[in-house]
Amino acid sequence: MTAKLEADLTAAIAAAADLTALEAVRVSALGKSGAISDLLKSLGGMSPDERREQGPLINGLRDRVAAAIAARKATLEAAELDARLASEGVDLSLPAPPRRKGGVHPTMQVMDEMIAIFAEMGFSLAEGPDIETDFNNFTALNFPPKHPAREMHDTFFLPEDENGERKVLRTHTSPVQVRVMNRTNQKPAAPWIASGQEPPIRVIVPGRTFRKDSDQTHTPMFHQIEGLVIDKAIHMGHLKWTLETFLGRFFETPDVVTRFRPHHFPFTEPSAEMDVQCDRSGGEVKIGQGTDWLEILGCGMVHPNVLRNCGLDPDIWQGFAFGCGVDRLGVLKYGMPDLRDMFATDVRWLQHYGFSPFAAPNPATGLS
Ligand code: PHE
Repeated sequence: MTAKLEADLTAAIAAAADLTALEAVRVSALGKSGAISDLLKSLGGMSPDERREQGPLINGLRDRVAAAIAARKATLEAAELDARLASEGVDLSLPAPPRRKGGVHPTMQVMDEMIAIFAEMGFSLAEGPDIETDFNNFTALNFPPKHPAREMHDTFFLPEDENGERKVLRTHTSPVQVRVMNRTNQKPAAPWIASGQEPPIRVIVPGRTFRKDSDQTHTPMFHQIEGLVIDKAIHMGHLKWTLETFLGRFFETPDVVTRFRPHHFPFTEPSAEMDVQCDRSGGEVKIGQGTDWLEILGCGMVHPNVLRNCGLDPDIWQGFAFGCGVDRLGVLKYGMPDLRDMFATDVRWLQHYGFSPFAAPNPATGLS
């Protein structure tokens, strides 16, 4: 009887295709009410002679079956591991997928785009320092002494220096107009800082600017690009053409619609703000359609007092200037919900909105 049981169990163990099937065989033989367990229990009811004979047979059977199950288990486990290793294998001969670690910040990408467009239109680049004199930031730009923009409200003032002068974090890039035009300028503090040029002048000035302001569309540090053109017989028509041509190229659509709104800046006369037509109905801003207007820059004809303050004769030289928020244009073009995210240094945001360094804009290969 034990011989037949042993043959059946041995066959079942060999036939168990996986660990679950093997476990079922084990339970049927060695489990609480398994066949071998039942035999072991039956020893108790036997006469001493019978037990002496059956005992070793049944115990031997139990040991051999247990050993066979353990051996089969080891084989099945090894096979399972082999299968997993095969399925999870890595093909080391495959080239690694390119993984970009760093990215170009959208502000810098947008600046490069703007510079590429204006460079093509014949503008050259000028730069000034973040820390500016009160004279360049305000006085030379025809700000009256008590003008509200000079007050603590908007301007970050530095502590007085030994001459009693309070420098400022420039509130706009317009002081670089003064640096470019003023040929009596103090020697520039560093080679990259613009100093006086003879007109005609055609420059753009990208840079950081600072104001005490923070909400969804304002950050205390932001970026502007200033444009300045000085020549003979320059008029508002040149300004309008330059800005419209720029915006069409920047937004990569011929459909940009703009309007000039009369405005006031102390350093231009007449002055205007330029709006672009857009659609804000769907939660994001779309350019070239819709019925809303978005203010994007300030501009105007350079005020005769500014020309005079820089040593140019306004009866000979005229010009236009404009100043445009770079970050804000980036937010518009690339659809970011909040300007403040631009400077939150959240690496996930940077990875999402950042640009490949290999996609640097230039007029030949396109902008974005
Ligand atoms: N500096 C102005 C501003 O920051 C913009 C501007 C620049 C306006 C040049 C006119 C001419 O708001």
